[in-house]
Amino acid sequence: MKLTRARCFVLGMLGLLAGLALLPTQGFTGGGGDEAVERTRKQTRMLDDLYKTAIVLITEHYVKGDEPSAAVAGKLLWKEMKAKGHHEVRLIDATGSPIEASNVAVDDFEKGALREILAGKASVDRVIEKDGKRFLRTATIVPVVMTKCVSCHPHYAKVPKSQAIGALVYTLPVEDR
Ligand code: HEC
Repeated sequence: MKLTRARCFVLGMLGLLAGLALLPTQGFTGGGGDEAVERTRKQTRMLDDLYKTAIVLITEHYVKGDEPSAAVAGKLLWKEMKAKGHHEVRLIDATGSPIEASNVAVDDFEKGALREILAGKASVDRVIEKDGKRFLRTATIVPVVMTKCVSCHPHYAKVPKSQAIGALVYTLPVEDR
């Protein structure tokens, strides 16, 4: 069958949507909490959808060959969000072979959350206190959503499709009113 350009586009879009559908937006779990924590969870869910969708779309439409990568764009963006005092985001490895050595779980929350995500959870969260302020820390699964991921991370080819290869870790202030 000869594929027209339009058909290729439609098939491409369907493939992309199927990939996006794989992104876990449900199954956020946490250890309870009050209304302010619940609002922060909702905000985190929105950011998780936003950043994961952006990374997939950038990878799909703008990444050619093996650079530049959406991960680098994400890190520049997250640096600005942190500098403006909004929130912190880290993209960390779950395979033991990060491209960038510093993209690994560094504290107790990240290490524990990664273990739970590798055991099958889609997300893990915890409220922490720092300088008298509350923060919600959340880690969400990053699976291999597209074959293109493998072109820069060849070892992902051996990971089963739904298994985590990484996690996005968020730290948001809990807005107590
Ligand atoms: C064009 C090459 C490229 C593609 C395609 C790519 N990545 Fe990456 N990825 C990188 C680079 C480079 C880094 C390290 C960026 C840094 O920290 O400076 C990285 C970092 C990561 C990390 C953090 C751990 C590590 O290895 O440093 C994860 C997780 C990750 N990528 C997942 C993915 C997923 C999932 C996809 C597919 C949607 C993907 N990558 C596609 C190049 C790529």
